[in-house]
Amino acid sequence: MVNTEWQLSGNMAERYEEHLVPVIFTPWANDLIARVDFAPGDRLLDLACGTGIVARLATRSGVMATGGDINPGMLAVAKERSAGLNATFQLADALDLPFEDESFDAIICQQGLQFFPDKPAAVSECLRVLKPGGRAVFCTARGLEENPLMQAQVAAFSRYFGEEATQAIRAVCGFPDAEKVQALFDNAGFGQVAVETVVLDLEAEDGSDFVNGLMMATPVAERIAAMNQAERTALHDDMLKEFGACYDGTALHFPHSANVVSASRAL
Ligand SMILES: C[S@@+](CC[C@H](N)C(=O)[O-])C[C@H]1O[C@@H](n2cnc3c(N)ncnc32)[C@H](O)[C@@H]1O
Repeated sequence: MVNTEWQLSGNMAERYEEHLVPVIFTPWANDLIARVDFAPGDRLLDLACGTGIVARLATRSGVMATGGDINPGMLAVAKERSAGLNATFQLADALDLPFEDESFDAIICQQGLQFFPDKPAAVSECLRVLKPGGRAVFCTARGLEENPLMQAQVAAFSRYFGEEATQAIRAVCGFPDAEKVQALFDNAGFGQVAVETVVLDLEAEDGSDFVNGLMMATPVAERIAAMNQAERTALHDDMLKEFGACYDGTALHFPHSANVVSASRAL
């Protein structure tokens, strides 16, 4: 169903949490958390935490989670959604982390690394705040050609709004090279660095509804809201069509491909 009223309810962070987190970021968070062998009481940093899905799910393993992000709107949703959980959230720039040396047993950074303007500085900061023996798990999207979700948005947005409107989506896939990811962690002084290409098969039971939510949670949401009904429906249908065989007329099943880095700080 297309949202015919097209009121942009909530702010961008709330729409991200409502429309994108269940389908995209929750399955990935579960995958990344399973890669860290947590002991109860471990201190976890969820770096670039957004609305905090990694931190929230990790508390199920008995960890004390701290989420850090530069976006106050994301942090507000993270705090609201984590009531009663052993998770706190605070402003934190990855390039200059506001934490003491050797504060954390583990760091997970889900789809944040590609946005850091100085990646070596951010990865060095992570090493600094990890305890000796601490583990880091990062994931960052691979190229557009491997990610129908981002490809569909780039194709549709460039058609309706021009190439400039695709920049934010292209940035999601802006650090796709596994060798560069490996070198980044090796050069920072991490040990046991392994980069794996992981493809999760994501599912939206109602593909049309998901695309509608996607439109509301994208950086061009305001421009979409300003379209008339016929234009919006055309954009929605176009984007759904861009998923090709991933859409079976009801559900969307699409591969989502990322480089997952596991690394540790030497004892
Ligand atoms: C795609 S979201 C991922 C959010 C979250 N990790 C998740 O899985 O839902 C990217 C996040 O990176 C954050 N971010 C970008 N640059 C950052 C920086 N320099 N330091 C900390 N967070 C940053 C953004 O504010 C945003 O919340």
